[in-house]
Formats: sequence, structure tokens, C-alpha cells
Amino acid sequence: MKVIIVKDYEELSRKASSIIADALQRKKPFVLGLATGGTPEGCYKELIRMYQAGCIDFSHVITFNLDEYVGLPPHHPNSYRYYMEEKLFRHINIDPKNIHFLNSKARDLEAECQAYEEIIKAVGGIDLQILGIGRNGHIAFNEPGSSIDSRTRVVTLSHETRIANSRFFSSLEEVPKKALTMGIGTILDARRILLLASGPTKAEAIKATIEGPITPAVPASFLRIHEDCTLIVDLDAGSLLSSLNKN
Ligand code: PGA
Repeated sequence: MKVIIVKDYEELSRKASSIIADALQRKKPFVLGLATGGTPEGCYKELIRMYQAGCIDFSHVITFNLDEYVGLPPHHPNSYRYYMEEKLFRHINIDPKNIHFLNSKARDLEAECQAYEEIIKAVGGIDLQILGIGRNGHIAFNEPGSSIDSRTRVVTLSHETRIANSRFFSSLEEVPKKALTMGIGTILDARRILLLASGPTKAEAIKATIEGPITPAVPASFLRIHEDCTLIVDLDAGSLLSSLNKN
């Protein structure tokens, strides 16, 4: 696992977007795994800026988003589909037929999850997967207790995650209790992984991910077994790391 420490959120966003932009130029088609949440927003803004400046092209990019709330239709302002439209897709030249999302309104959610795995395989697997991290160490919606070989499935969100995400809803009650998520095994199948962490609320999760045991109690710790995983961490998120606290 490679850890890049950056000063702040702005530098994190610039660094992440330049890694993504560079990767996109090297392979056609390119399969990009995307994350939602507050953390990648700055990175997506940078990618839009680069696209508008004519520096990157998304016409050969195929995307798969990590997860989606069960019960929220794609046009719901809190759905991750809507987030992606607003924060990235509608500003760039991605072909809509190359955008893949878990359909959390599907009648048979298990079949939907299985089909998602099949489509990822059919396009040759994910080349680069972007990840955030939860305060409890979750990746996508793989909460503590998730196994290393878990695949795309229906999950119940922890109370902690619902509280953290309630900042995007008008009340905690409105935050869905279930979601569809790629599994940890699915994420580890990506050829390359880029995890972004910013701010003091992520410091404990980042310390546990990098310096603690590899354990289902901290799902992000499983990333340490991946051959090509990079963490971009700002000084606040990295503040508890021993390497930054040596005198
Ligand atoms: P955040 O969420 O980027 O909004 O902090 C990350 C996550 O919960 O995975």
C-alpha cells in the first residue's frame, strides 16, 4: 500500500484528479470505478475543469459506481445516481450507455447485484477504483464485519453511517436503512485502487487501516493485501499516523 500525504483537501483533489487523468489516457476503453460522498467532490470538480480545458476525454470511459441506497429512484436528489449526474457526468463527454449503476429499485435485488458483477466481468474488470472511507473504516457500504471475499449484495447500513450521511438529508429518519454495494472482493478485483481521505473525522479510520491489524472490523484494512493500492491522505486525516508523529 502506498500512502501519499498531502497538505489539505485542495491538494488531495488535485493529486487524485491528476492520477485519474493520467490513467485515462493510457488505455482504451478504460473502466473507472467511482465513489460518491463529500470526499471525491473536489476531485470531480478538477476533472471537469480539465475536461473543459480540453486536457482530458471521457468518450472511451466506462464507469461503475460502488453503491446505491435501496429505495431511492435515480432522480431523487439524495440518490447516488443523481449525485454523479450533478457532480460529474452532465459536465463531461461520457457516453450515457457507458455509465453503470446498481438499480436499487429492481424487483429482485439479489439478481441485480449478480448481474452487476457479470457486467463488470464482461467489460474486462475495473482498471481503477476510486474509494472514500467511512469514519468506521467502511469502504463503499461494506460496514465493519464484512468479509474479504464479499461480493455485490444488499446490506444494512450501520447507525453510525446513517448518522454520518444524514447531513445530506433533512432528517436521520429519511436516510435509507439498506443499500446495494460492491463487495470487498469485488473492489479488490480492481487492477488499481485509489482511496481518498480528508479531515480529522477520518484520522482514526486511517490509522487503523494503515497501522492496525488486517481485520473485518476495519474493512479498509483489507486494501493492504492489494498489489496496487494508493491512499491519498491529507494532514488532518493522517494526524494519528506514527510516521507523521515521530519527533
Ligand atoms: P464522505 O464519505 O466522503 O462523505 O466522508 C465517505 C464514505 O462514507 O465512504
